[in-house]
Amino acid sequence: MAETTKTATLTFEGKTIELPVHSPSVGPDVIDIRKLYAQGDIFTYDPGFTSTAACDSTITYIDGDKGELLHRGYPIEQLAEKSHFLEVCYLLLYGELPTAAQMEDFETRVTRHTMVHEQMHNFFRGFRRDAHPMATMVGVVGAMSAFYHDSTDITDPWQREVAAIRMIAKVPTIAAMAYKYSIGQPFVYPRNDLDYASNFLRMCFAVPAEEYQVDPILSRAMDRIMMLHADHEQNASTSTVRLAGSSGANPFACIAAGIACLWGPAHGGANQACLEMLREIGTVDRIPEFIARAKDKDDPFRLMGFGHRVYKNFDPRAKVMKQSADEVLGLLGIENNPTLQVAKELERIALEDEYFVSKKLYPNVDFYSGIILDAMGFPTSMFTPIFALSRTVGWISQWKEMIGDPALKIGRPRQLYIGQTRREYVDVEGR
Ligand code: SDX
Repeated sequence: MAETTKTATLTFEGKTIELPVHSPSVGPDVIDIRKLYAQGDIFTYDPGFTSTAACDSTITYIDGDKGELLHRGYPIEQLAEKSHFLEVCYLLLYGELPTAAQMEDFETRVTRHTMVHEQMHNFFRGFRRDAHPMATMVGVVGAMSAFYHDSTDITDPWQREVAAIRMIAKVPTIAAMAYKYSIGQPFVYPRNDLDYASNFLRMCFAVPAEEYQVDPILSRAMDRIMMLHADHEQNASTSTVRLAGSSGANPFACIAAGIACLWGPAHGGANQACLEMLREIGTVDRIPEFIARAKDKDDPFRLMGFGHRVYKNFDPRAKVMKQSADEVLGLLGIENNPTLQVAKELERIALEDEYFVSKKLYPNVDFYSGIILDAMGFPTSMFTPIFALSRTVGWISQWKEMIGDPALKIGRPRQLYIGQTRREYVDVEGR
């Protein structure tokens, strides 16, 4: 727990309440209001949780003003340059960078869980071929609860560990199966001789008719995209996983809830919406029209991939993603990709526009990721599933941290009720 040496005083209608203030290892202090209702018969009010810390955590720290993102203290820029996704998974799950032996053991455990129960193949048959892969993923990941009964007892640390490994290992397989099913191609089984990112690419793009060679450029880019999406403090989908987990729901059901929440265009669905927006803009000369729409209060249109609840400076992931887009499209010989040119010009114009500057709206993680995924051959419908499979380690790490906390309580917010006060039933004749 954080240090508690200070207090805050709340004075309201003649009552004075002393509230403890906890100081973090870094970041803002928090006023502990857990006793507020009991002592003061009053709630706090914070729709959207703009000023509310829902938990304490040791996993990820974000400084929105500095544009800083740390995983267990390590800056995302250093991890993106020097680490790889499975090593970041180990770091998020266990808190330290692994030794070579620990990494080898972890990679072996994950690799040996990448296949799904053969019976799960039948689940896909129940979906229409044109179902959005996120719909399929929500259903099939939730159904894991019906298969892996030996890792659903959340009171057993070993079962929690097995569930975490299974989730990290199997969600890419399920995402690839959702893609294959949507394009009418046969499922491709994972291979134990491939690294995590290469395995995913092969499960998506290999066909029985010929050997599939993993392009190292694409594999490295895929691994980096996974790293950049791995965890992000208490975002909407992580908070969903925590709230679901606080009731004691099994981990597979909790991750399915996180996938459902991530799907929204304001959250993980923004990568698909952003590329579709860039394609709709089409050419640089149409950018002013869309900038004007984004600024128009009467127009619900927003620049997808722009803005963030926490970052009021550049999203550090967007900077790495932009570099990666330049690198990957250059190596693929498509550096003149019109969508990339529109994205760069849109960013330049927006960041010089008073509206975006005053509201501190910068490109976020979703602004450039779709350009890379599109260049790699993925349809836009697969962008959010790739975000989901990458974020699974963050969700399950945050879930494990919460479930392992002896002070865990079920999450149960209150409300500001503004509806009808008590009134008596009126028979239909009297209405
Ligand atoms: C992710 O939380 C996380 O960490 C999420 C995430 C993660 O890794 O888990 O980082 C991943 O979800 C990134 C965000 C992806 N979403 C988008 O790119 C969709 C477009 N962006 C927005 O809808 C918006 O910026 C949010 C949802 C991301 C943040 O919304 P907030 O914090 O609730 O801010 P807001 O909606 O109150 O906006 C503040 C002002 C408003 O204007 P005013 O009412 O104050 O006049 O900024 C405006 C908004 O209208 N604004 C935008 C805008 N985003 C905010 N105007 C135009 N275009 C935008 N993109």
